[in-house]
Amino acid sequence: MPYDVLLIIAGYLLGSLSTAILTCRLMGLPDPRGVGSGNPGATNVLRAGGKGAAIITLAGDLFKGTLPVLAALMLHRGETAAGLVGLAAFLGHLYPVYFGFKGGKGVATALGVVFGLNPLAGIAVSATWLGMALVSRISSLSALTAFLLAPAYLYLLTHSASISLTMMLMSALIFWRHRRNIRNLTIGAEPRIGRKAGG
Ligand code: G3P
Repeated sequence: MPYDVLLIIAGYLLGSLSTAILTCRLMGLPDPRGVGSGNPGATNVLRAGGKGAAIITLAGDLFKGTLPVLAALMLHRGETAAGLVGLAAFLGHLYPVYFGFKGGKGVATALGVVFGLNPLAGIAVSATWLGMALVSRISSLSALTAFLLAPAYLYLLTHSASISLTMMLMSALIFWRHRRNIRNLTIGAEPRIGRKAGG
């Protein structure tokens, strides 16, 4: 149990590292919090600085979700604890201790957590995101669709109620963090992927 608490704290501290802000700083790009939607995430880094920085951000945000979950599983903490460690990394991304508790929307980090818990579910969530992105060219709509389905994918593939409930909480928080995007979607004002202005 104390081990689990340590892993949860480590997960939160890792999740708090904002890949978007750090990547933009290191590459001399504008701070993503002051560009486009203001979200420190890969979609907005694409607006702020282009493809290379966006890919690094996506990879870093995925990694910080997957790594703590895999560490918990490799240390035989069990799937419930691994899910909670992933939730902690996700909460770190949303409420980062290093950045005034003002973080991102959590899509890539949540996807990293799903990959750590069950790679097949990670592929299913990614395929859903990609399919919706190809059709709509809207990142937020793709994320909302993918994470609406993520708890069901995890339940079908793991039969674990605790993992599915943890993912339901993460999906609910993703929807909450996308409330402005949802408003924009309802009035047709949500920008397409890669468009420079907007938010
Ligand atoms: O992953 C974040 C995405 O769903 C929305 O980002 O910058 O368009 O609000 P953004």
